[in-house]
Parts: sequence; structure tokens; C-alpha cells
Amino acid sequence: MPARLTRARPPAPRLITRSPEETQRAGRRLAARLRPGDVVLLRGDLGTGKTVFARGVAAGLGVPARQVRSPSFTFVNPYHGRVDVHHVDLYRVDTDADLDELGLQDILGGEGVALVEWPERLGAWRPPACIEVTLVDRGGSRREIRIADPRPPHPGARRAGGAPRRHSRR
Ligand SMILES: Nc1ncnc2c1ncn2[C@@H]1O[C@H](COP(=O)(O)OP(=O)(O)OP(=O)(O)O)[C@@H](O)[C@H]1O
Ligand SMILES: [Mg+2]
Repeated sequence: MPARLTRARPPAPRLITRSPEETQRAGRRLAARLRPGDVVLLRGDLGTGKTVFARGVAAGLGVPARQVRSPSFTFVNPYHGRVDVHHVDLYRVDTDADLDELGLQDILGGEGVALVEWPERLGAWRPPACIEVTLVDRGGSRREIRIADPRPPHPGARRAGGAPRRHSRR
């Protein structure tokens, strides 16, 4: 029987951080690779650092870090940086009706960047191509962070929050 040719996915890059500041910096580094419309899913148990990481991403997109707090009671916090950023936390979402009222169509399908904590609750709302960040508590203040990015590389694309391209015409 011929071997099946499948293209193996490269393993998600994995790093260990040792403080909230390091996790925030990892978020900033991801922000530099984001493009308008990207959706970042933040997975991990309670207290693993999803909001800390989201703060770093948002800061990297030009949102003052102090504005970034867990939106647990509102479900969605909108921020304005160089692009619009929606910070979604679905921990307290119980029903599909709750989800349907959040305006996810625009949040996940718009030109801004969406950061989603507790994305397991998205169900059918989960977009097909998301960047998935998984945080695991490795004891003390160590956190393991894996980032799976299924997007094809787009070297020429303008990044979210990147400087506008200048065209010089003589
Ligand atoms: N390496 C680390 N990275 C991130 N946070 C850390 C780290 N070490 C310790 N912490 C602490 O862990 C906590 C992470 O809180 P955070 O609100 O970001 O978690 P969360 O995953 O968003 O939780 P929740 O599921 O409740 O929303 C903070 O108190 C932070 O100071
Ligand atoms: Mg949180």
C-alpha cells in the first residue's frame, strides 16, 4: 500500500516564562505578527495567565496595558489601539443565547483583532483559522506557553498595528 503523503504540521513553538512580565512580553511578541482580522484563542486553566498574555498582545497593538482587565462580568471589553481589539472572556457564558447576544459576528469577523479567553465555549462560533495559545501552570510562577499559528506566511501583508506603508513616487 502506498504511503499516505500528509504534510506534518510543525510543532507549536513552546516557551517557559517565569514571571507575569515575561508572559506579557511573549504576548507583545505575538502582537508583532498579527494582522487585522486575526483571532487569538487563549486556552488554559483559571489563573494560568491568559489575561496577562492578552495584556501583552493588546499593548503590542497600541492599547495602554492598564486598560486591559479580564472582562468576566461584561464578556467583551473593546479597546482602541492602532487597530480595534476585542478582549472576550467566555468563562461565565452558559447558553448559546448568551453567545448569540455578544455580537461575535462583528468581533470575530471584523477588521480588528479578537483575543478570546475560554474559547472552548465558542462552539459553532469558532472561526476556522485561529491562532491558539495554550498556557499551562508548571508550578510556582512558571508557565508553559505554546502558540499554534495555522496561517500561511504572508511576508508582504501589512501587520495589525504596523506602520502604514509609504509609497514614494517621483
Ligand atoms: N509566569 C507567569 N505568567 C503569567 N502570570 C503569572 C506568572 N507567574 C505568576 N503569575 C500570576 O498568575 C496570575 C494570572 O492571572 P490571569 O488573570 O492572567 O489568569 P487567567 O488565565 O486570565 O485566569 P482566568 O481564567 O481567571 O481569567 C496573576 O496573578 C499573575 O501575577
Ligand atoms: Mg482571565
